Amino acid sequence: MNSPSTAPVQTRRKAQNRRVRRAGNFAQGPLYQRLADLLEKMIQSRSLRAGDRMPSVRQFGAQQRVSVPTALQAYVTLESRGLIEARPKSGFYVRARLADLAPEPARSSLAPRITTLEDPDPMESLLADHANSKLVPFGAALPSASLLPGIKLTRTMAAIGRRLGANSIDYDMAPGSEALRCELARRSLEWGCTLKADDFMVTVGATEAVSLALRSVCKPGDTVVVESPTYFGLANTLRELQLKALPIPVNCADGIDLDMLEKALRKTRIAACVLVPNFHNPIGFAMPDERKRRLIELCARRNISIIEDDTYGDLPHKGARPRCLKALEDSVILCGSFSKKLAPGYRVGYIAAGRWQPRVRALKQTSTLIGALLPTLTIAEFLKNGGYDRYLRSVRQAYRHQVARMKEAVVENFPEGVCLSRPKGGYLLWCELPGRADAVKLFKQAREAGISIAPGPMFSPTGDFRNFIRINCGHPWSKSIENAVGTLGRLVRKL
Ligand SMILES: Cc1ncc(COP(=O)(O)O)c(C=O)c1O
Repeated sequence: MNSPSTAPVQTRRKAQNRRVRRAGNFAQGPLYQRLADLLEKMIQSRSLRAGDRMPSVRQFGAQQRVSVPTALQAYVTLESRGLIEARPKSGFYVRARLADLAPEPARSSLAPRITTLEDPDPMESLLADHANSKLVPFGAALPSASLLPGIKLTRTMAAIGRRLGANSIDYDMAPGSEALRCELARRSLEWGCTLKADDFMVTVGATEAVSLALRSVCKPGDTVVVESPTYFGLANTLRELQLKALPIPVNCADGIDLDMLEKALRKTRIAACVLVPNFHNPIGFAMPDERKRRLIELCARRNISIIEDDTYGDLPHKGARPRCLKALEDSVILCGSFSKKLAPGYRVGYIAAGRWQPRVRALKQTSTLIGALLPTLTIAEFLKNGGYDRYLRSVRQAYRHQVARMKEAVVENFPEGVCLSRPKGGYLLWCELPGRADAVKLFKQAREAGISIAPGPMFSPTGDFRNFIRINCGHPWSKSIENAVGTLGRLVRKL
């Protein structure tokens, strides 16, 4: 039974919760956050418009029957999301959401043509720049260490180390720790699949997974369809395997142009398609299921292998995780990794290659042979004890707000005409610069000014996207980030 002193408090809390729920918000979390979510919805639906004055903190507290500190905390949360701003002696106002008005970047205008791949240029320095803490990190696609559960993982690893004792330094023999493969199998339900532990092999990141997949289904000289733009590491892999690329333009909203793909498949002999359908790098779209189905049909008709890179699939900004291509067609070779979302340095990835699995396993013996036991077991344990799901819930929100904030800042600071992608997940933003601004020049000048960015031509095997850049939004908003966007804006204007 409640004590007389706590009962009214609990009754009041329940009433507050009912009010928040009645207003259409079923989210979990502290009251101030739910109130902030409620107001965010009103701003997004334009019930509260850019420039509108918000009710005073006191008024809002009274309306919602919450204390003034709770109301204030809700406003501060909205402010940190970049949705409202405090004006001195005047109160809080809804911020202009200029980014919503910026058009989406154009598609590649180049007709698909087979290309052999040149040596990388600024690409090598991009990852090296990541290690340089003096540079503002808009270049490499990596989140801030402050958002990753590094300390928790280290503790988990230490506990596993103690449990295993001397054996903790052992190999992780192929196909990789059963503990991790069981967890992956369990999670595959969320991807729309029903995979078993035996369907997986643990790899050294997604890089090894994609490379093994390509080596299994292609031979040197073959042509592989890639998205345009696409993740630049893929071009490196294709070059080293002596494969040719056929880049097919993608729409910023929903992925690869299927009509163009169909035409290209009619004309050209293709060995495989490598795609990043969920939260694409660099654009951030998620391909809708009906388009995924058509893609699968197109490839099935010609017996073309699909290699799916699902590196960012766990990072939707809102709602459910998108399904994998593999959920719709079992023969798809699924590759994934924990590098971009949990522990970059552990280098733990995986592959589920279906009928190609024995070949993939044989090839692993000629690449990395065996994996590292402790990082693999640590990730398995983190998945098993619920730590990963808890962490994902917070980080998805963080990326949504960081991307939104970056979009606003870019539109405010860059010259008129800048176009921005509308990422549905992950932390990358694709940005078309106005006019003929040369992204490689900008890359060099920005670096001199202490800012790392990824220039557009890196994402095209044919050197397309000369006036595009990709911006990493994986870091919490800060003064230094705000200043860096201002500096970039000034450099773009000069170009
Ligand atoms: C789409 C995509 N695939 C693969 C990788 C490489 O992943 P890993 O570090 O796990 O090898 C990246 C890295 O940026 C990526 O963006």
